[in-house]
Amino acid sequence: MPLALGLMSGTSCDGVSAALARFNGRRVRVLASQTTPYPQRLARLVRQGARLEAPQLSALNMLLGEQFAKAALGLLRKHGVAAARVAVIGSHGHTVYHGPHDPVPSTLQLGSPAVIAQRTGIPVVADFRSRDVAAGGEGAPLVPYFDQVFFGGGPARALQNIGGIANVTVVGRGLAPLAFDTGPGNCLLDLMARRISRGKLSCDLNGQLAARGRIDHRAVERLWRLPYFHRPPPKSTGRELFNEGLLREIFGSALARSPRDVLATLTYFTAYSIAQSYRRFVAHRLREVIVSGGGVFNRTLMRHLAGCCAPVPLRPIEHYGVPAQAKEPVAFAYLALRALQQRINHLPSATGAKAGCILGAITPALPR
Ligand SMILES: Nc1ncnc2c1ncn2[C@@H]1O[C@H](COP(=O)(O)OP(=O)(O)O)[C@@H](O)[C@H]1O
Ligand SMILES: [Mg+2]
Repeated sequence: MPLALGLMSGTSCDGVSAALARFNGRRVRVLASQTTPYPQRLARLVRQGARLEAPQLSALNMLLGEQFAKAALGLLRKHGVAAARVAVIGSHGHTVYHGPHDPVPSTLQLGSPAVIAQRTGIPVVADFRSRDVAAGGEGAPLVPYFDQVFFGGGPARALQNIGGIANVTVVGRGLAPLAFDTGPGNCLLDLMARRISRGKLSCDLNGQLAARGRIDHRAVERLWRLPYFHRPPPKSTGRELFNEGLLREIFGSALARSPRDVLATLTYFTAYSIAQSYRRFVAHRLREVIVSGGGVFNRTLMRHLAGCCAPVPLRPIEHYGVPAQAKEPVAFAYLALRALQQRINHLPSATGAKAGCILGAITPALPR
């Protein structure tokens, strides 16, 4: 059975998440995974992303390629797996620009696959989103294809990923998959944790700070009134909406006066907006909510989410053998494997594309 390695860097800019998996029909086994944080200087460049000039962007593409290659090789070394055993690397890259509604629709992920293939000797599939945009789609979300294949055969379930932004796929036997961004994930929490710690913390470690603050339920209501939460799916969002400007608007002077209460409120709201979005937009009775992404490590967030989703039970995706931050890299490993086999790896109904495609550009390696 083929081994495939997936690489992912999301909106949190926390680092490169890598996972090595074996795929057997509709079964997946994750053999190893880890997230390698970006070195500080690279993290700063990555955060600047779309604001960089072409020469810097071009350099960042190569630097990220090196970082992705390092993450892949580090994972293989740590677990004693020879590169020759890996059929393919699926590399999502890091999104520096996503503009599917621009006059010229486009999307740009950096992390040169040439560098990754050169350093690892493994064929690389990358640039998955462009093909969907070329087919008239939004370029996102792409993970629902994976969700449908591996979780679509059971009862109606929500696969909730909580990265910088939180997104859900609802799948189940006989159901047409439904996927959308529920709203903010960790992005506002990271922002507040950095603010409270004056830059020392990059996140609210295990949700400790939020656990000690007071929730302002009026602010929760103000946030829930934002038009985004009323718009029916399919829909997606990002930092262009959920940022410091919004926090100033919603919390006013409390942002500076009682930042811990703001963090506590946002942590609750993240959970609330997820559960309320199900109530508003998901017609099926959910049997279970399967959570993934770095948000799983925020205990306060998970406690609120369990409360808000009740009586529907919450289960970390780890329960199914997939570590929280491995979910997305594993999905791209699978998409890559399909691309290499020249088989469709695409759910056009999730993105609005006109037809199913084979997503990804293949960078070959020398025959072994
Ligand atoms: N121990 C932890 N405690 C609280 N939050 C955590 C912890 N570990 C990771 N996170 C959160 O998870 C985020 C990264 O999650 P990830 O799934 O990689 O998101 P993205 O896809 O946006 O990069 C971090 O920015 C942080 O907010
Ligand atoms: Mg990440």
